[in-house]
Amino acid sequence: MDYHDALAAVGAGAAHPGAMASTALWAERVQPDASWRVLDVGCGTGRTLVYLRERFGCEIVGVDIRPAMIRKARRRAELAQVKGTWRVAPAHRLPFSDASFDLVITESVNVFLDPHLELPAALHEVHRVLNPGGFYVSVKSRPPCIPSTAPPNSCMTNNPAGEPAGQFRILCFFRPPADSLW
Ligand SMILES: C[S@@+](CC[C@H](N)C(=O)[O-])C[C@H]1O[C@@H](n2cnc3c(N)ncnc32)[C@H](O)[C@@H]1O
Repeated sequence: MDYHDALAAVGAGAAHPGAMASTALWAERVQPDASWRVLDVGCGTGRTLVYLRERFGCEIVGVDIRPAMIRKARRRAELAQVKGTWRVAPAHRLPFSDASFDLVITESVNVFLDPHLELPAALHEVHRVLNPGGFYVSVKSRPPCIPSTAPPNSCMTNNPAGEPAGQFRILCFFRPPADSLW
């Protein structure tokens, strides 16, 4: 049994640096609303998405490569009486059409992807499924990925919320609308 299988077995939620405190921190800054469609890639047992649905009313969609995680996420949503869509899929091949989400999240996922193949492909997938004007938020404990792995036509910032260095990092990019002026 590896680390992720163990997380799935115990139904661990918020298995990312800063746990729900870091999630609440970025979510309060981003302020999604009920019209937003949100995708959590590597959603684990679905705790972040259930929180976003309950707190902001967003439409929630979770994908994870592990069927056991998706089973637990479905169960969590059922218990919370929250509507959601849950799919088993790898981060580098998202089963969604282009420009179909307002916000994409990865919390403690990118560090587990192969940095040369899976991670760049996964970031391109994030960029592809984001609506123009949409946001990507990645929570991680390691230094952020090098800018060369960022999808083209995106701008990246580190720690936009100014959280204490060393505990966790929040990396965001914003897909600019086609007619934006920077
Ligand atoms: C440390 S857990 C974090 C789970 C969740 N984001 C959270 O914060 O609780 C990492 C998750 O990424 C998933 N994962 C790992 N590699 C993946 C991949 N290539 N595609 C999709 N999910 C992946 C694992 O199954 C696991 O659920």
